[in-house]
Amino acid sequence: MLVNRDHGLKQTQAYHFPALVPSLASHENILLERRGAASLTQLLEKVESRERIIPVSGYRTKAEQEKLYLDSLIENGKTFTEQYVAFPGCSEHQTGLAIDLGENLDEIDLIRPSFPYTGIFAQFRKHAADYGFIERYSQGKEQITGIAHEPWHFRYVGYPHARIMERHSFCLEEYIQFLTDFPENGQHYISTEKGKEFEVYYVRGLAEETVIEIPDDCLYQISGNNVDGFIVTIWSNPL
Ligand code: DAL
Ligand code: ZN
Repeated sequence: MLVNRDHGLKQTQAYHFPALVPSLASHENILLERRGAASLTQLLEKVESRERIIPVSGYRTKAEQEKLYLDSLIENGKTFTEQYVAFPGCSEHQTGLAIDLGENLDEIDLIRPSFPYTGIFAQFRKHAADYGFIERYSQGKEQITGIAHEPWHFRYVGYPHARIMERHSFCLEEYIQFLTDFPENGQHYISTEKGKEFEVYYVRGLAEETVIEIPDDCLYQISGNNVDGFIVTIWSNPL
C-alpha cells in the first residue's frame, strides 16, 4: 500500500488496526506489523547484528505523528519538518509497516538516526530486499516521494515486491504506477525468484464491490494499493 502526502490513511482502513508486535524481542515498545517484525528479526540475525542495529521508531498512532510533527515545527522549523516528518495521517509509520533503524550509539537522533552505507549497515542493505524491506526515501527520488533522503527509514513491502523494486530502482510511488501497466485482463508481470515463478498484476477497484478471481491451488496475496485498486501476487508453483 502506498501512503504519502497525496494518499493518506482513511479512518475506515483495516490498517488503522494492524496486528502489532514488538519489532524485535529486545525492544518491546517499538511495534511493527507482525510479518514485518518476523522478517526484521530474521534479517538482523542474518547480518549478525547483535544489537549493533536497533529499532528507533516503528508504529505510530495518528496522534503520535501529530505530536512529532508539531514538536518538530517548533524545534526545527517548517522546511526541515516538511522534509523529514510526514504530515499527520500520511505517515507510513501509522501502518505499522515502517521502521526507523539506527546505529546503536550513546546518543541517537530520534528523527534522523545514523544508518550508514558501510560495514554491517551495508550488509543489512544488501540482504534487505530478500526479507521484504526497502529503503523507502532514497537519494534522487525526493521529488517523487516528497520526502528527503532518509537512509534509516525502511519499509516492509514484502517479498517479491522488494526484489522487483530493487531490480528496477523504483521507489514505491514508481512501483505502484508501474504495476498499472500489468492489468488483470492483460499481460501480467511474470518473473522468477529463487527458482519459483510468480506473477503480479493490478486490479482497478470498483465503486461497490470488486471481484478478483484466483486460480485453484496457488499461493496468493491481495493488497489494496491505497490509491485506486489492488495488487495481486500469485506464486504459480509454490511447492
Ligand atoms: N520520516 C517519515 C517521512 C515519516 O514521518 O513518516
Ligand atoms: Zn521513518
